[in-house]
Amino acid sequence: MEVFQAIKERRSIRKFKGDPVPDSLIKKIIEAGMLAPSAGNLQRRKFYVLSGEAKKDFKVPTVGRFQLGDEFVLIVVCADTRPVEKYGKLADMYVKMECAASVQNMMLAAHACGLGTCWVGSFDVEGARRLLKLPEHLTPVTIIPLGYADEKPNMPPRKTMGEACEFLKILPL
Ligand SMILES: Cc1cc2nc3c(=O)[nH]c(=O)nc-3n(C[C@H](O)[C@H](O)[C@H](O)COP(=O)(O)O)c2cc1C
Repeated sequence: MEVFQAIKERRSIRKFKGDPVPDSLIKKIIEAGMLAPSAGNLQRRKFYVLSGEAKKDFKVPTVGRFQLGDEFVLIVVCADTRPVEKYGKLADMYVKMECAASVQNMMLAAHACGLGTCWVGSFDVEGARRLLKLPEHLTPVTIIPLGYADEKPNMPPRKTMGEACEFLKILPL
């Protein structure tokens, strides 16, 4: 699928059929996440992929519109928050950006593979950390439910180009 088509067509999916997703597709999507850019190529992120019993046991409360349910897999994207001296105070912002880049790559890759996803940011972070037995330096930042979509939502409205963007022209000296 052409990249721009995937960008335009992808929607947040919150209802899934529960049908199994082949391992090869799951790995392809994870690979897309691994290929996302990162500051200094440090790749300070880790993906926890939960299916079957592991997914069932992962009973983490969510706050927003998405509720854990019939998705086949959950991908929990974790930020490695250990300090990076050369980035100083920026390190924390960079690692979240790196995770976000991975999330978007995975969502687009999933769409291109005929699968649905949702970017879930409103969840009990400490609960997720406990259930996954994460080491201190890993913070879960996003949960991506993945599976075959059981809905076809319309695109929620976007800002106009004029609202979203300022086109600045170089002024003559
Ligand atoms: C940082 C971030 C956090 C989000 N958290 C949630 C969430 O907790 N629950 C949910 O249902 N959707 C969540 N979303 C999805 C947005 O609601 C969705 O992307 C937006 O409404 C636009 O719809 P679209 O993805 O179909 O274009 C989140 C999106 C982002 C980028």
